[in-house]
Amino acid sequence: MKGIILAGGTGSRLGHLTRVTNKHLLPVFDRPMIYFPIQTLVRAGIKDIMIVSGKEHAGDFLTLLRSGRDVGARFQYGVQERAGGIAEALGLCEDFADRGPVIVILGDNIITDDITPAIERFRAAASGGLIFLKEVDHPEAFGVPVFQGDPRTRIIAIEEKPAKPKSRFAVIGLYGYDGQVWDMIKTLKPSGRGELEITDVNNFYLAQGAMEHHFLDGYWGDCGESFESLLAAANIVADMAKRPLAKA
Ligand code: G1P
Repeated sequence: MKGIILAGGTGSRLGHLTRVTNKHLLPVFDRPMIYFPIQTLVRAGIKDIMIVSGKEHAGDFLTLLRSGRDVGARFQYGVQERAGGIAEALGLCEDFADRGPVIVILGDNIITDDITPAIERFRAAASGGLIFLKEVDHPEAFGVPVFQGDPRTRIIAIEEKPAKPKSRFAVIGLYGYDGQVWDMIKTLKPSGRGELEITDVNNFYLAQGAMEHHFLDGYWGDCGESFESLLAAANIVADMAKRPLAKA
């Protein structure tokens, strides 16, 4: 199965840090942020990876990451002409994916779990979607699942950055989709922030009853969310560096 890393956007929440570069190239302790989602995919056996970034810094990704051979992967590169949202960026990968199933990760999401078992189950199911959840202190900054009854069983919808979150969980930036996703994206309309929202894609799968969800046990950080989240991620990585960690 192919993998996609979405690394576009303006990074506006990180102020001056993203004036001259792309958020996903910023350092998180000893390496650029995008090394972490690469490591997450490669560790799960996903080696064919398309990296989509904005037009301003696309060349920097190529300079940094090259063919992917160093990490046993094969990279392709895509360019999103304007910051039209995560789902729009994903739509650019239709041909790369041969309209088949994909695993998608946002370039600013760092996780410590090994997702191989969840990915293997998704691969075996061969249909539907997959999301990952993590309990957080401020769910209003993320996509938030609305559970029916027991939080660990059924999700009826996801609300994007709700003012009054209906649960304490975030839908993290790691998703699996079957081949239906390509036609679905073409039906999306821009949200209030003028973007095609990945949460709308997820709600499509939930409405079909075709979405698996998986709870993360380890650390999850969305480094692009705030200066604090970027610092917290760097501190976690620095701590982990004291223990042996496979190099991305
Ligand atoms: C995006 C998604 C949101 C998700 C988050 C995870 O938000 O829209 O649902 O919880 O990534 O990192 P964004 O960072 O684009 O605001």
